[in-house]
Amino acid sequence: MSAENMEYLTIALPKGKVFGKAVQLFEKIGYTAEGLSDKSRKLIITNEEQKIRFIITKTADVPVYVEYGAADIGVIGKDVLMETDKDVYELLDLNIAKCHLMMAVPKDKKRANLLDYANTRVATKFPHIAAAFFNSKGMQMEYIKLHGSIELGPIVGLSESIVDIVETGTTLRENNLEEYAFIVDATARLIANRVSFKMKFERINKLLADLRKII
Ligand code: PRP
Repeated sequence: MSAENMEYLTIALPKGKVFGKAVQLFEKIGYTAEGLSDKSRKLIITNEEQKIRFIITKTADVPVYVEYGAADIGVIGKDVLMETDKDVYELLDLNIAKCHLMMAVPKDKKRANLLDYANTRVATKFPHIAAAFFNSKGMQMEYIKLHGSIELGPIVGLSESIVDIVETGTTLRENNLEEYAFIVDATARLIANRVSFKMKFERINKLLADLRKII
């Protein structure tokens, strides 16, 4: 690890829904940087005094930055963490961005039993989680990987169902879909790079202790 990298604690935050909640959490324990909560396009924001660097990444990329040590720690949803299966430490459940993964289907085309969906197409951002779920039910499926707006899949005939996250349920409701099977709960987690965790043990441990106090 370079001397410069050693000097800073680099924190990867996902843009999107979790960002604001994560920033609030860090602010509460005095970890912040000028302009962090602004809606700017800056991708790296540094607090020189505290030697903290925030990097703002696409949600699915947070575990990648952390695994490679480009960020020491990061905030990421358990859903993404399970899907990507990266070699990082999961340090803490931050108890923010609560949501769950589920299978949903169009309300007006609901089949009687889960098994009636065997061998049909599932649109999802989470093919690994979806496959683990359907395999556990003994069901073979065809997985269609999408990168967003998953709910569109069954509406336009791309798939018979979706596997996606639900937070408020608004997207399902507004698109005439209905939750059909619960898969797993998910919240945002604090993750750490394995080497950083050893090399910056005191800083990361202090951060963990501070976060634990407010969660
Ligand atoms: C996520 C998810 C659902 C929606 C669920 O999408 O994929 O579409 O949020 O939230 P709700 O239950 O509160 O409506 P996101 O907004 O992250 O965007 P995406 O469709 O581009 O993935």
